[in-house]
Amino acid sequence: LMAADLNDVWPGGACGGACNCSTCRVEIDVAPAPLLPREDDELDMLDSAAAAISRQADAAGEDGAAVAEVYLADKSRLACQLVLREEDDGLELTLPEDVLNMLEVPLWLR
Ligand code: FES
Repeated sequence: LMAADLNDVWPGGACGGACNCSTCRVEIDVAPAPLLPREDDELDMLDSAAAAISRQADAAGEDGAAVAEVYLADKSRLACQLVLREEDDGLELTLPEDVLNMLEVPLWLR
């Protein structure tokens, strides 16, 4: 994604791929082969982002659990943590509109 120069349409990569921001979250639509599973760091960041977005939604009077669900879904991945192999050629994904930068989330919301 970074090599594709999507800066005008994609705010991902705020932490430079260190698994600290969640701005690179994508939703996998079609995977030609099962992707390598999420490692602990990726799961931890998605959990933290889900918790933060849930609290923000709750504070705004929305259903925080429902909002957080998309972060925890199997198709939710951090692009910077995806290791692509030859058999992943043809992978299709969506760049979500709800980009959360955990580097900017106040500590009390984490
Ligand atoms: S670029 Fe920050 S978590 Fe992927």
